[in-house]
Amino acid sequence: VTKPLKVAVAGLGTVGAGVLKLLRRNAGHLAARCGREIVVTAVSARDRNRDRGLDLSGIEWFDDAAAMASRADAGVVVELIGGSDGVAHDLVRESFRVGRHVITANKALLAEHGAPLAAAAEEAGVALAYEAAVAGGIPIVKALREGLAANEVNSLYGILNGTSNYILTEMRESRRDFADVLADAQAAGYAEADPSFDVDGVDAAHKLAILTSLAFGTKTDFGSVLVEGIRNISLQDIDFAEELGYRIKLLAIARRTPHGIEQRVHPTMVNREAAIARVEGVTNAVMVDAVPVSATVYQGAGAGEGPTASAVVADILDIAAGRRLPTFGVPAAQLVDLTPADMDQHAGAYYVRLTVRDQPGVIADVSAALRDENVSLESMLQRGRSPDAAVPVVLTTHDTVEAAMKKALARIASLDTVLEPPCMIRIEE
Ligand SMILES: NC(=O)c1ccc[n+]([C@@H]2O[C@H](COP(=O)([O-])OP(=O)(O)OC[C@H]3O[C@@H](n4cnc5c(N)ncnc54)[C@H](OP(=O)(O)O)[C@@H]3O)[C@@H](O)[C@H]2O)c1
Repeated sequence: VTKPLKVAVAGLGTVGAGVLKLLRRNAGHLAARCGREIVVTAVSARDRNRDRGLDLSGIEWFDDAAAMASRADAGVVVELIGGSDGVAHDLVRESFRVGRHVITANKALLAEHGAPLAAAAEEAGVALAYEAAVAGGIPIVKALREGLAANEVNSLYGILNGTSNYILTEMRESRRDFADVLADAQAAGYAEADPSFDVDGVDAAHKLAILTSLAFGTKTDFGSVLVEGIRNISLQDIDFAEELGYRIKLLAIARRTPHGIEQRVHPTMVNREAAIARVEGVTNAVMVDAVPVSATVYQGAGAGEGPTASAVVADILDIAAGRRLPTFGVPAAQLVDLTPADMDQHAGAYYVRLTVRDQPGVIADVSAALRDENVSLESMLQRGRSPDAAVPVVLTTHDTVEAAMKKALARIASLDTVLEPPCMIRIEE
């Protein structure tokens, strides 16, 4: 009989508690899947006295997570604390040092230190698994690393942050502004007390950096991701988007271009009829375009106790069964430096909302600035007349090089009749 797999879990919050519960609830089924029993032998968290709704009797407790990595009677350490540095990083390094497999849900850690950690795991002869770190319950890591292994990926894009997608959905459906919806989401526990990683695009960018490595065989390069969040999206933009046949989504996009690899997270106008436009609320989705498979779509719950535990436990099963692949699909030494594409060379369509003083000549001045930079207009909308007062003017462009768009916008912003900084949103067809 194969010996049980012994597991040490650091962090007993939403995800950690979920993992312990799932291991217990499905123990028989899991043992059948991997041919051996899975036993949690050690845990670590900050507060030993906190009631977590878990029976921890018979499980060794460690106040110091890094000490648990070396001292616990376990072959696998599961890191569910979070944060790109500090305890989580120390714990993972210590686990490698003593030759223990690591499973983590920590996207910040992998986005910041993915390539060196993959190399360290390989050197130690252990696994570094992280299915839960990207899109929670959706098995997108496995899909890219295994299911699509035969393909060459051209691009991928997705909704990787449930909180910001929920806020955008709620703004549109309940016709309330960003601050209002965010405050409610925080009160209801859908959004963190410090929402900045979610609404400023950082969380989605962490996940994108990981997917980019898996898709293109490059070293994780979080620093070259263009990151813009949703704080500046107004109800006006949401309404204009609907009127123009679009919907605003915080998209994460990674794309191979002739100039290098584009990695970007920003609010995006997508066709209202497109599949991605229909992904609402906290749901996540990833679309991958690869050759020869063509487009494939992955959708589901991107966070929460159950979905995240589902992904962590799948990684535990792989290790229990002896299935192990290089962290990013290819040996760490073969990961290449990422050549970032310069966004100034990006070509696409743009939506621009201006707040202008309603007086003769404004539209002519705006049009001149665009024409001088070779930006070709697709449409221009002006709503409501109110002589000498502030009115919105919205325009969309045909495909334009981003550098030209920026120059035109700088000129437009400097016009006396343009009363607020222009709001620019990229359009993806
Ligand atoms: N929540 C999700 O839906 C989700 C989805 C995907 C990925 N993730 C990732 O999963 C990880 C955990 O997230 P979570 O939502 O479960 O966080 P959480 O609920 O805040 O739990 C964090 C846990 O870490 C423990 N902890 C904090 N500092 C510690 C230290 N110095 N030593 C030992 N334990 C320490 C805490 O202990 P106490 O309980 O004693 O305070 C707590 O149990 C993060 O990397 C997160 O990004 C979360």
